Amino acid sequence: MAARRRIVAGNWKMNLDHAAAVALTKDVAAGAASCTGVDLVLCPPAIYLEAVASALQLADGSSPSGVTLGGQNLHDQPKGAFTGEIAPAMLVDVGCRWCIVGHSERRTLFGETDQIINTKAKAALAAGLTPIVCVGETLEEREQDRTAAVVTAQIDGSLHGFSAADLAGTVIAYEPVWAIGTGKVATPEQAQEVHALIRSRLATLTDAATADSVVIQYGGSVKPDNAAVLASQPDIDGALVGGASLKADDFLAIGKHFGAAG
Ligand code: 13P
Repeated sequence: MAARRRIVAGNWKMNLDHAAAVALTKDVAAGAASCTGVDLVLCPPAIYLEAVASALQLADGSSPSGVTLGGQNLHDQPKGAFTGEIAPAMLVDVGCRWCIVGHSERRTLFGETDQIINTKAKAALAAGLTPIVCVGETLEEREQDRTAAVVTAQIDGSLHGFSAADLAGTVIAYEPVWAIGTGKVATPEQAQEVHALIRSRLATLTDAATADSVVIQYGGSVKPDNAAVLASQPDIDGALVGGASLKADDFLAIGKHFGAAG
């Protein structure tokens, strides 16, 4: 098995204000040295990206904490008459290296289909960003025993036309919708089963070596007290953290668990 990087990303969603975003960033940056063996990523609301970027940086532009920055969403076009949207290159311009694409909230509340997610993920790659492509089943789909079919279809649709190089530059986040913001975390076995399924599907889309190199994060009620067991699973390479990423201590504790399991 490839030694994959561990990546723990905080999805702040539509939370915090300017002062709280800067304070949280500084606290995460100050504690990041205690998280070895893991990459920490912050995904603030777009309007605070620049503030977070500057809170991470020294005057010379370097980021001594090693914490990096991601967007929560992007548009698939490079520029033009798309009121309210953000182009991939704009995210790069303010210091992003990553962008979450196809979060379940985007899928359900904003009508994003696998096809839209596919064009966004390709646009992210073209701009030099690493897309964090989200997939996951609803409770109803799980209860109907359709998890494998739903996740497979999301993987196939979201990654349609990806070359091995594209896939190698992509992170997948498995976020069961029923576990997001509910406090109901998937058991390590449930999560591992779907992560393994995703990895084997990635192998059929490209090849085994590429699939083996792809970081697959788990998301959905990840907290300091459940991170270690999730991190101990062979195909769980990191976490996409919502609520717990709004508290520096909790986010850093999750990062430590994943780093220690690497
Ligand atoms: P919670 O960690 O709050 O469940 O959110 C998960 C999530 O949606 C991260 O993208």
